[in-house]
Amino acid sequence: MSARHDMDVERELWNTYAESTKRDVLDGEPVFRWTQYAGHGPGVELLGEPRSALEVGCGTGRAVALLAQRGVRAVGVDLSPAMVDRVAGRWRHTGARFVCGGVLDHLRDCAETYDAIYSIFGAVWFTDPVRLLPLIAKRLNPGGVLVFSHPPAIPGAYGPQGMYKGGFAGKAMFTYRYSYTPRKWLGLLGRSGFGQAEAEVLDAPEAGHIGTLVVRATVG
Ligand SMILES: C[S@@+](CC[C@H](N)C(=O)[O-])C[C@H]1O[C@@H](n2cnc3c(N)ncnc32)[C@H](O)[C@@H]1O
Repeated sequence: MSARHDMDVERELWNTYAESTKRDVLDGEPVFRWTQYAGHGPGVELLGEPRSALEVGCGTGRAVALLAQRGVRAVGVDLSPAMVDRVAGRWRHTGARFVCGGVLDHLRDCAETYDAIYSIFGAVWFTDPVRLLPLIAKRLNPGGVLVFSHPPAIPGAYGPQGMYKGGFAGKAMFTYRYSYTPRKWLGLLGRSGFGQAEAEVLDAPEAGHIGTLVVRATVG
């Protein structure tokens, strides 16, 4: 299967996800949180005080919209045309900008640079970090930050993980997720042009529930 075909399959998978995103998620106000639990964990302050920011795999665009409302030049990129269509209209009044595309192609081809690039259960989780992190480093202004979050790796299950959509019959729609320990993330970042970096797993609000891996790194 060619790489291009893989991207077509992934686009179709994420379009299905976009179409299943509940309307009430987009009816609400812009919100910025790193974890999967409302009112839990750190917020937008992890980005510092950026004048410009790019969310990779922005999904609903709620976080991009919040930044735009605060006067940040805020851009979201997402692979799913269906998602970008929905969110560009929903958040137009905030000044947020949305672009449809794969994160690797977008970062390779765009001329813009940012004070912050971030991903909330987004494209950093779904893209080979060996290819992605150096491209992010190039698109950050000096002193710029990369911050991302996603669920922590399941103990012993590290590296790329295949993920089929739905059941195990029918059209083979799949994507990959990349799951590493905090220590492995720090190594990957160090080899990709990042200096100071921190990675930790935040506990869920309820004992025994799934926590959140949060990583923050400064370029250079
Ligand atoms: C779980 S959602 C992210 C949720 C988002 N943070 C929000 O608040 O809605 C993952 C998003 O990443 C996007 N995505 C996955 N792979 C991508 C890629 N290679 N390039 C760009 N976007 C990608 C998907 O289309 C999807 O909208």
